[in-house]
Amino acid sequence: MEALDDEIGLESLMTTRHEKTLSQAILERRATPSFDGAEIAPEDLRQIVAAGLAAPSAFNLQPWRFVVVQGEEQKKRLRAAAFNQGKVEEASAVIVACGDEDGWRKDLDQMILQGVEGGMPEGYAAQARNIVPNYLSHFSRDEMHGWLNKNVMIATTHMMLMAEAMGYDTAPMEGFEQEKVREALRLPLSYWVVALLAVGHLKGPDKFFGGRFEIGHTVFGEEFGKPLK
Ligand SMILES: Cc1cc2nc3c(=O)[nH]c(=O)nc-3n(C[C@H](O)[C@H](O)[C@H](O)COP(=O)(O)O)c2cc1C
Repeated sequence: MEALDDEIGLESLMTTRHEKTLSQAILERRATPSFDGAEIAPEDLRQIVAAGLAAPSAFNLQPWRFVVVQGEEQKKRLRAAAFNQGKVEEASAVIVACGDEDGWRKDLDQMILQGVEGGMPEGYAAQARNIVPNYLSHFSRDEMHGWLNKNVMIATTHMMLMAEAMGYDTAPMEGFEQEKVREALRLPLSYWVVALLAVGHLKGPDKFFGGRFEIGHTVFGEEFGKPLK
């Protein structure tokens, strides 16, 4: 790991502690209905966050921004912005996953600089300098939100599975009011709130397993309608 990675905490992913395997984490994760509210160790939170920051993103532009809410008063405010969902206040931490509509404008140079340091070919860098503004500056607001949703949810999913692997429980949420969350967190106007991710430990019984559709309903091989072999 290089110095830059150390700054954002990627080194915390090189842990020697026992974690669930990825398959276990995927199978055992449930959308947690209620949390016990116990504090989360700062180093655990760093590891969860670092897993998100390690996610892939379009052109490596990392347009995500996360606000981690742990304070009691702030959790109350956030709960009020999230249709009064109790788990927002009960969770040890709520990671508010946002995208910055203007992130690419500010970060393009930095992305290229870091890329070049890591071995990005100059031809690729030159192309990115052209293609990124050409592509993104024409986006409508809705298209930009769609693009942010894609990128931010991958990072949020990394965090969710890392938390599960470490023995925490999580709850992803879309039940919130955009403007109210912005106000509670004093977010800049260019921020778009994508999801809330509550992290902590389950209190009481876990949620039922709702099952999944059989594979032929949602997965095709080669073209629509053909079964995956
Ligand atoms: C994008 C997204 C938004 C969600 N929003 C909420 C929410 O606001 N409140 C809630 O109780 N559950 C929410 N959920 C949890 C889903 O209801 C849950 O994942 C689904 O029922 C499947 O259950 P499981 O995650 O336990 O397998 C959300 C899940 C996702 C992925």
